[in-house]
Amino acid sequence: MTNADSERRPAHAIQDFLRAGHALYNSYNGVWMSVNRKKVLRLTERYGGDWAIQHAQRLIRLVEIIGEGMEYDSEAIWLAAHMHDWGTLPGFCRPGVAHCDRSRELAEDFLRQAKCPPDLMIKILEAIEFHHGGADGHCNEAVLLHDADALDGIGVMGVLREFAMIPTEGHLPYPLPVGIGMAGAYERAKIRMENNPRILRLPKARRIARRRVQ
Ligand SMILES: [Fe+2]
Ligand SMILES: [Fe+2]
Repeated sequence: MTNADSERRPAHAIQDFLRAGHALYNSYNGVWMSVNRKKVLRLTERYGGDWAIQHAQRLIRLVEIIGEGMEYDSEAIWLAAHMHDWGTLPGFCRPGVAHCDRSRELAEDFLRQAKCPPDLMIKILEAIEFHHGGADGHCNEAVLLHDADALDGIGVMGVLREFAMIPTEGHLPYPLPVGIGMAGAYERAKIRMENNPRILRLPKARRIARRRVQ
């Protein structure tokens, strides 16, 4: 054995050890994510239906666009995007509790029971708690989810999703809007269109907002 070999061996052993540890961590994370994604999807669909699933998927796509070049954890975004509005859903909401706080509470219970890795949990909970404001100074995931959620409320999608929430009565093919459904949806869409562009934090999100409200 040459001197060079004996000097290299410990370094290789450490690298191999780290690589094995990293692979184990990744495979644990992969299993953890796929099991829990299924549970989160089931709960989101059960309480929020297609509306909540579609909203979450749009947010994930928007984060990919506005977060290009930023460092963020896509697993945290996936989970937070699905759970951030749980506190608004029938069966989950609690009168008198702001939905951001309620969603955070529900998510924290879920993640603790699921033994979520702590570093992942912190990002998810911050993103949920601050998705309607206060994300400044928090993790990138919080800023990204905040801006994506605000963007989803403006433009064509912002209008359509408000009108899609109007309760109706009667049966297909001609269900009728109930009460002030139409006027309420119009007012909510208008308020979002005026307010949301002002609260955006990321330059790319602001550019998209300008196009959406032109
Ligand atoms: Fe929300
Ligand atoms: Fe939302």
